[in-house]
Amino acid sequence: MQSVSTLKILSCLSLSLLLAACGNQQADPNSPEGQRQAAFQQFLQHSEPMGGMLSGRLAFDGDTFAVHAAELAELADAPWGHFPAPDQNNPQPNAALPEVWADADGFAARIDQFQSAVADLSLVTAEGVTSPEQVTPAMQSVQQACKACHDGYRR
Ligand code: HEC
Repeated sequence: MQSVSTLKILSCLSLSLLLAACGNQQADPNSPEGQRQAAFQQFLQHSEPMGGMLSGRLAFDGDTFAVHAAELAELADAPWGHFPAPDQNNPQPNAALPEVWADADGFAARIDQFQSAVADLSLVTAEGVTSPEQVTPAMQSVQQACKACHDGYRR
């Protein structure tokens, strides 16, 4: 006998094939949405451990911190080429607000803010990282730049 919850899961699964209606929606990885989301996930893979080391959630390791800072700097251009104006005929699951295109100058200013914060962080870390105090202000600027853009341009 099938339990109610099994039936629910099954109907959700088959619905999701039709409507992409259940849980986390995944954009086609080759679409612009999928490519920028993948780039943002890579941002997170580097910013998250750096933030964790500064909040005390992870043990502080200056060498590892410096590697993440350098890799984030390498990636800092990656998402921005994947924001073509939306195509009504091919709406992909994504969280970008219409302001990305309606306020293109504001979005570009947030990109600049982010890129200069990341460049500052990589300058601070390039000579070696010896203490959390050394990198905290620069990392806070990076985190603020992520948040400032998300506040205005992401659902
Ligand atoms: C200039 C704007 C901007 C900056 C700066 C920015 N983001 Fe985002 N981010 C976005 C937008 C817009 C989306 C929504 C993308 C979509 O779904 O189409 C997004 C989505 C994401 C996602 C979700 C990706 C997914 O799988 O759907 C993560 C994670 C993320 N950003 C992390 C970061 C981190 C970490 C930083 C800073 C290190 C950062 N972002 C900086 C605009 C920005």
